[in-house]
Amino acid sequence: MKLIESIRTSHRVALACAIIAAAGIVFLWRPGALDHRSAASNGTAIHSAIAAPLPAEADVPKEEPRVTPLSARRVRLSSMAMLGKQMFYDPALSGSGRLSCASCHSPDHAFGPPGGHAVQLGGLRGTDEGMRAVPSLRYLEHNPSFTIGATTAMPDTDAPAVAPQASSGTVAGAAKSGPQQAAVTPVPQGGFDWDGRANTMQEQAAGPLLDPHEMANPNARELARKLAQTPYAERFRELFGARIFDDPDQLLSEAQFALGRYQAEDPAFHPYDSKYDWYLAGQARLSAQEMRGLKLFDDPAKGNCAACHIDKPSRDGIFPAAFTDYQFEALGVPRNRKLAINRDARYFDLGLCGPARADYRRQANYCGLFKTPTLRNVGTRHAFFHNGVFGSLDQVLHWYVERDTQPAKWYPADTNGRIEKYDDLPARYRRNVDVVDAPLDRRPGQAPALNDAEIADVIAFLKTLDDGYHP
Ligand code: HEC
Ligand code: HEC
Repeated sequence: MKLIESIRTSHRVALACAIIAAAGIVFLWRPGALDHRSAASNGTAIHSAIAAPLPAEADVPKEEPRVTPLSARRVRLSSMAMLGKQMFYDPALSGSGRLSCASCHSPDHAFGPPGGHAVQLGGLRGTDEGMRAVPSLRYLEHNPSFTIGATTAMPDTDAPAVAPQASSGTVAGAAKSGPQQAAVTPVPQGGFDWDGRANTMQEQAAGPLLDPHEMANPNARELARKLAQTPYAERFRELFGARIFDDPDQLLSEAQFALGRYQAEDPAFHPYDSKYDWYLAGQARLSAQEMRGLKLFDDPAKGNCAACHIDKPSRDGIFPAAFTDYQFEALGVPRNRKLAINRDARYFDLGLCGPARADYRRQANYCGLFKTPTLRNVGTRHAFFHNGVFGSLDQVLHWYVERDTQPAKWYPADTNGRIEKYDDLPARYRRNVDVVDAPLDRRPGQAPALNDAEIADVIAFLKTLDDGYHP
C-alpha cells in the first residue's frame, strides 16, 4: 500500500505505458481467441479436437501465421523498465558482488534456475544455500494479489469447477472436482513466492535484495550506497529527483518499482510462443503422443492435472492458459534431505503458515500449503516442487500417481518400520494434505492413475509448454 501511495507522476507515466502494453497483450490475443474461437467460447473445441482423427504433423497447412508471438515483436520499454533491466543483471547490487537477479532467474532458463541444484547459493560469501527452489519469473503478469476468500478473483475459465467441497473441514479437504456442496471453504490464492507472502511483484523485489541468503544487503542504506556507484545512478536522479539518494527507503521503493516494471513490460517474461500456444492458435498440430498426453492431463479420472494447472484460456479469450489456478494446496511432497536447512530435524517449511511468513502461523489448517506453480517451461527445469526434492519430470509424475498406491517407494520408514507418509510435515498437519483430488485419491495396492506409457505421454505434452517453438 505504501508503495501505491508513493507512486508519483513518473510512475503514472510508466503505469500508462503498462496499460497500453497490457492492452497490446489483449489485442494480440484477440486473433488467437478468434482462431480457436470455439475453445474460447464454449470450451468444447479442444476436447472435440482431441476426439477427432489426428492428421500427421506433416499435414499441417503451411500458411502465414495469424498470430505473432509477443517475443517476435519489438516492444519499447519505458525508462523505468530499462532501469529495472539494468538492475536485474547487475551483480554489484549484491553483498558478494557476484550475484544478480539473473544468476538465479536465468534468461536462458525461462528465468528459472540454471543447473541442476535443488536450491541456489547466495549470501555475503555466495555460499549460503537457499531454502526453496527458484521459480521461473515467466507468466506472473496475471498472478493476483494474495487473498483468502471465494474464488471470484480468478479469471473466468472453462476449467473444472474450483469451488470447494468441504470433506474434512480443512482447506485441504476442498476438492477441485466432484459434486459441489453449498458450504464454501475460503481458498487462499495468489501472491508472490511459494507462500504468497509478497502481494505485488514490486513488494517481492525487496525480498531478494535484502535477504541474507540471497543478495544480502543488510538494509536500504547499504543498497543505496551500492546504487550510487553504478553507471546508471544518474538515471535514478533523472527519474526520481536530484535528492533521491538522500532517502534510501524511497530509493529502495523506486528500485523495486523499476524491477517490477521490467518484468511486466519486457515480452521476454511472457512470450506465449510455446507449441501449445501455437496449437491453440490453430497454427501447430500436436503429435499423437502429445495429444494423448493432453487428454490424460485433462481427464478427471486419470491425470486430472488441469483441475489445478488450468490449461485453457479464459472464456473471453483475454487471459491465456496460465497452467495454474493460483490456489494453495498441500500435496505432502517428500522432505528434501539434501537441503542444509533440513539437517535440523525440527525445521519444517510449512508454506502458508510459516516460517517465511508470520501472519498465518496460528492457522493450523494452512500448514503445508504452497502456491500452485505454472507448468509453462517446466520441461526446462531440473528442480521440482517448493523444496526442489525431485530432479526430473519422470520422478514428479511417478510420485503423483504412486504417492498413495506405493508410499514406501517415496517416504522413509520410522523406527517401528511404519511408512512416514508426508514426512516433510509434522504429524499434526498431515491431515491438511489433499487426498480427494485424482490422482491423489488412491489407496495402497490400487493401480496408479497413470501407467508408464501414459506418464511418458503426459511428459511429452508438458514439453509442448516450453517457449520458443517455431511452427
Ligand atoms: C539466490 C537466488 C535468487 C536471487 C539472486 C533472486 N531470487 Fe528471486 N527467487 C528466488 C527464490 C528461491 C524464490 C522463491 C522464494 C520463496 O518462495 O520464498 C524467488 C522468488 C522470486 C519471485 C516470485 C516468483 C513467484 O512465482 O511468485 C520473483 C518475482 C523474484 N524472485 C524476482 C527476483 C528479482 C527481481 C531478483 C533481483 C532483485 C531476484 N528475484 C533475485 C531466488 C533468487
Ligand atoms: C490438487 C491440485 C493439483 C493437481 C491435481 C496437480 N497439481 Fe501439480 N502442483 C500443485 C501444487 C500445489 C504444486 C506445488 C506443490 C509444492 O511445491 O509443495 C504443484 C507442482 C507441480 C509441479 C512442479 C513444478 C515446479 O515448478 O516445481 C509439476 C511438474 C506438476 N505439479 C505437474 C502436475 C501434473 C503433470 C499433474 C497431473 C498428473 C498435476 N501436477 C496435478 C497442484 C496440483
